Amino acid sequence: MSAPLTRTALRTVSTAPRRVSARMMSLATRAAPRVSPSTAVPRVAMQVRGMKTLDFAGTPEKVYEREDWPLEKLQDYFKDETFALLGYGSQGHGQGLNLRDNGLNVIVGVRKDGESWRQAEADGWVPGKNLFSIEEAATKGTILMNLLSDAAQTSTWPHLKEYVTPGKTLYFSHGFSIVYKDQTHVVPPENVDVILCAPKGSGRTVRTLFKEGRGINSSVAVFQDVTGRALEKAVAIGIAVGSGYIYETTFQKEVFSDLYGERGCLMGGIQGMFKAQYDVLRAHGHSPSEAFNETCEEALESLYPLIAQNGMDYMYKACSTTARRGALDWAPEFEAACKPVFERLYQSVKDGSETRRALEFGSRKTYREDYDRETDAIADQEMWRVGHVVRGLRPNRK
Ligand SMILES: NC(=O)c1ccc[n+]([C@@H]2O[C@H](COP(=O)([O-])OP(=O)(O)OC[C@H]3O[C@@H](n4cnc5c(N)ncnc54)[C@H](OP(=O)(O)O)[C@@H]3O)[C@@H](O)[C@H]2O)c1
Repeated sequence: MSAPLTRTALRTVSTAPRRVSARMMSLATRAAPRVSPSTAVPRVAMQVRGMKTLDFAGTPEKVYEREDWPLEKLQDYFKDETFALLGYGSQGHGQGLNLRDNGLNVIVGVRKDGESWRQAEADGWVPGKNLFSIEEAATKGTILMNLLSDAAQTSTWPHLKEYVTPGKTLYFSHGFSIVYKDQTHVVPPENVDVILCAPKGSGRTVRTLFKEGRGINSSVAVFQDVTGRALEKAVAIGIAVGSGYIYETTFQKEVFSDLYGERGCLMGGIQGMFKAQYDVLRAHGHSPSEAFNETCEEALESLYPLIAQNGMDYMYKACSTTARRGALDWAPEFEAACKPVFERLYQSVKDGSETRRALEFGSRKTYREDYDRETDAIADQEMWRVGHVVRGLRPNRK
């Protein structure tokens, strides 16, 4: 168990930037549970022209913050550029509206008969003014933001590559198309900057956090640097699309960790774990409401927000000693049981199997309906039907 936050620890972090101090002050003044040093935001070790190297539990990493890119600086930096959003799914919506609200010159390119065209019009993009076909937008844009679905990036590339001409920048929000080039055949010309900014969350969250004055965390990477400014540009775009802070990665690390994470703890793993626990409770005669509350509702409404605020130890300390004892004893069991699955999953990402499957599925003409069928089947599971009723009982929903 780590020690509670000591005066020395508090003194140390008080030399960090204002943001950190404010957070630590609020932690320090909170009565219970006591917060350990491990919950502190990493301390600034070095600061070079806005880029900071932070100490992440012993490993130094570079981080870029929004404070380094005030709006006037962003607007000046991009005054001669036209952002062309190619695709208007969740990321197109979030990144596009944030760019527009930041006063930058942005246009949208989507296919005219598609759902995205309708959604873009609903968001106020005007045909002929800032809403075009993919080809028109790719012609007019100087920063081509390839936010088509990963499968569509593959199928449209033979045609789209004609528009990636010298002087333009090719931008992605995923390393997928570039890294798995053997399957996607996306090979950019050598005379353009190729960069990515990958927000670590849904495009919807990119938008809501921006509107709340907050910002999502994102990673940036450079695949090709022709101008010598590719990294700087990636960071600036990252801030312009709504990131609060940004860390550096490579295209390969980004796509490996992203595909792995969403299949694991972020989405696939969480549904699998919830379902297994719920089903065992039901098989032992627990009522649906009890099984749901002890599996999902308490997690989502009470305990996970505590982890988000101050870490796992903070959540443990906020729970009873009985709960803490059992959780401490059983966590290693779950870790051991899950680790081989995670190893297998990582291999499946690394050897391209996950990409093959995503491309096959995403290239179907009926991809939207096919995905909906499977997610609707989750909604139809008893656990989530119960969840619907339980959520309706939350006083703030009434
Ligand atoms: N969503 C996330 O949480 C997230 C987070 C970080 C990064 N990313 C990355 O961001 C990029 C965009 O993802 P997304 O989730 O915003 O979008 P998405 O839902 O995967 O893709 C939607 C867009 O692709 C278009 N599209 C699909 N098939 C097409 C085809 N054959 N021809 C032309 N357009 C086609 C759709 O247009 P129609 O409506 O016309 O079909 C729509 O505009 C991806 O690289 C993704 O990996 C996503």
